[in-house]
Amino acid sequence: MRIWAHRGCSQRYPENTILSFEKAAAIKGLTGIELDIQLTKDGHMVVIHDERVDRTTDGIGDVGGFTLAELKKLRIPAGNGRTECIPTIEEVLELLTPNFRDGFQLNIELKNNNYPYEGMEEKIVSLAAEKGLQRNIVYSSFSALSLEKLRRLDPEAQIGILDWKVSDCLFKARGGCGADALHPFWRAMDLPAERLRGYTVRAWLTGHLYPETPTGNRLDLAALEETGITDVFLNEPEMYCGER
Ligand code: G3P
Ligand code: CA
Repeated sequence: MRIWAHRGCSQRYPENTILSFEKAAAIKGLTGIELDIQLTKDGHMVVIHDERVDRTTDGIGDVGGFTLAELKKLRIPAGNGRTECIPTIEEVLELLTPNFRDGFQLNIELKNNNYPYEGMEEKIVSLAAEKGLQRNIVYSSFSALSLEKLRRLDPEAQIGILDWKVSDCLFKARGGCGADALHPFWRAMDLPAERLRGYTVRAWLTGHLYPETPTGNRLDLAALEETGITDVFLNEPEMYCGER
C-alpha cells in the first residue's frame, strides 16, 4: 500500500500549511503529499481546502474574494500561540524540492468543482513545466471537464479522477475525461477488485483533522488492498509508514 499525507500531516498539524507539509516531507517511505489549490482575486494559486477561509483561518469570506496580499494577513492557529498562513503553491514546491529529487510525488487537487476558477489548469501546468516537475505531480479534481482540459494541456500528465464511488471514477476515466488513475472514497469500493486490476486506485478518507485529538484507531491496510486500493490519503501518515 502506498501512503500519502492528506493535506500534509493534518491530524496533528493544521491542514494545508507549510508546517503540515514539513512534517510530511520528513516521513521516511511516504509516497507523497496531497493538497488543494484555488485562485485568489488577483490570480495566485493558493493552498486551501474550503472555498471560504472561515473554517481554517481567522478571516471570513471566499478565497476568490481576497488578493494574495490580503490572504497572507490571515492567521491559522497552530498551537502554543503560534500561527501559520495560507501558502502559495510556489512556496510548497520550493519546500519539497529536495524530496522531488528522490521521486517524491505531489497530488495537486484543483478545487474547482464549485467555482470553476478560469485559467487554473493553464497556470498549474505551466508552473510544473517551468520547475521541471511534470513527473512528480499528480493532478486530480472532482471536475471531469477540468481533467479533460489538463490532459489536453499535458498529454503525459498523471491525472486522477475524484468521485465518491469507484464505479463512477472508472466510468468517467473510460468515458474520456483523461484520467489514468481512480480516486474514490475508501468506503465506496462498489466494484470487485478484479474489475480494477491494472488501475492505480488512490482512496481518500474523511475523518479527524487538527485540532481534534487523535483517536488511536488503526486501519487494516492489507484488507483495503484486497478491495483493489493501491494508495491511501491519510491524515496520520506518520502512524503507518514503515509498516508496508
Ligand atoms: O484527494 C482526495 C481528497 O482530498 C478529496 O477530498 O475533501 O479532502 O479534498 P477532500
Ligand atoms: Ca483534497
